[in-house]
Amino acid sequence: MQKLEVFGATKLKGQIKISGSKNASLPILAATLLSKKKINLKNVPKVRDIETMLTLLRSLGSKVNSKKNQLIINNSKQKKNFASYNLVKTMRAGILVLGPLLAKYSSAKVSLPGGCAIGTRPIDIHLKALSKLGVKYKINQGYVIANAPKGLKGNKIHFKKISVGATENLIIAASLAKGTTLLTNCAIEPEIKDLVDFLNNMGCKIRWISKRTIKIIGVKEVKEITHSVMFDRIEAGTYLVAAAITQGNLIIQNIIPDIIKTEIKILKKLGSKIIIKKNEVQIIGNKKIKNIKIKTAPYPGFPTDLQAQIMVLLCKSTKNSIIQEDIFENRFMHVAELNRMGAKILTNGNKAIIKGNINFAPAELMATDLRASVSLILAALTANGKSIINRIYHLDRGYENIEKKLKKVGAKIKRVS
Ligand code: EPZ
Repeated sequence: MQKLEVFGATKLKGQIKISGSKNASLPILAATLLSKKKINLKNVPKVRDIETMLTLLRSLGSKVNSKKNQLIINNSKQKKNFASYNLVKTMRAGILVLGPLLAKYSSAKVSLPGGCAIGTRPIDIHLKALSKLGVKYKINQGYVIANAPKGLKGNKIHFKKISVGATENLIIAASLAKGTTLLTNCAIEPEIKDLVDFLNNMGCKIRWISKRTIKIIGVKEVKEITHSVMFDRIEAGTYLVAAAITQGNLIIQNIIPDIIKTEIKILKKLGSKIIIKKNEVQIIGNKKIKNIKIKTAPYPGFPTDLQAQIMVLLCKSTKNSIIQEDIFENRFMHVAELNRMGAKILTNGNKAIIKGNINFAPAELMATDLRASVSLILAALTANGKSIINRIYHLDRGYENIEKKLKKVGAKIKRVS
């Protein structure tokens, strides 16, 4: 079992290149199943969740090769429509193959994703919406067994709750459905816009007709293309917080600053100096960190995937802060570990009250989920001494070369087995 040793306290200084987005790559990889041709993808991050998705695609018959920094997915011989439990259970985004498989074969058997550390992760919104396209399904022994005897037929669908995955599954499924589909109350995360750009480049007919409404005219087939995936805005936000909490000076490169304007606004409010350039942002952390009340929300609100990271920063504020987690029902798993480092965070339901003026003490720690694990690194960077973080396989799911990137800007961090 690998672990990370972090020696604090260090101020981070220098440049960090942001990798491609895990959460844009996953739906785009699933959407390659719509094609019978070759798809070239650039800027896909080398992280474990991507490896899992590629293994899932191979299990469905896709040929996956990588050349230099390009992924080549060839689905000319892809014909299976069964996604097994042992692949989907480790990565809930596996459910994103349901839409494309139904679009291509009008039938599919896909494992239910199952719960995880941050919540039960139901897929009722996905299934209810797919049934509006003519899909009949039953749940049997942990699998969704779905089929559309007459093929998928376009329809008007309103999402009762904003869901990133359900929006992605339906956009992909409706792309090959007969007729027109109107989706309302869609999630509008930048990763979904990247998916729509990818699909339209393949010849799909998808238009945003208002803020959360999308119109899809089904097409018969899609063509061979090359697509470069957008930057990972959560990785970018994580390193912005790293600069703020270590009172460092970082230049975060290969990004589109406008996409993370909410995060930039919050960090400026907390006291950091931020200089915005074309494809990069320079952040200079401030000794005095203000306090704030933050609620997580669907884009363009404050992202739930940065909640653990900003919580660590708020422990350093001069006064108490409050965080309200409005997306997932159990996303405070990092609190217990932070309190073991000396934080004084009280949780009550989906609210956390964060005491300020905390000096973290180094400790041996346990990562619980992807974003919680990186919040432990942020705290350890400010603690005087050696911290050890166990179960870092959670971290490897979504952060490409994190030790290398942090070492390059002055962090004393190493991976030990
Ligand atoms: C995506 O998960 C992201 N994952 C998550 O990032 C992110 O936290 C989340 O969106 C919210 O932004 C990927 O993109 C691979 P949702 P997803 O459907 O699609 C409930 C990370 O760290 N819900 O928007 O699963 C759900 O339980 C990961 O990279 C239903 O009730 O999120 C949650 O409470 C973690 N029924 C809320 O909606 C459904 O059918 C939002 O979920 C679907 C969701």
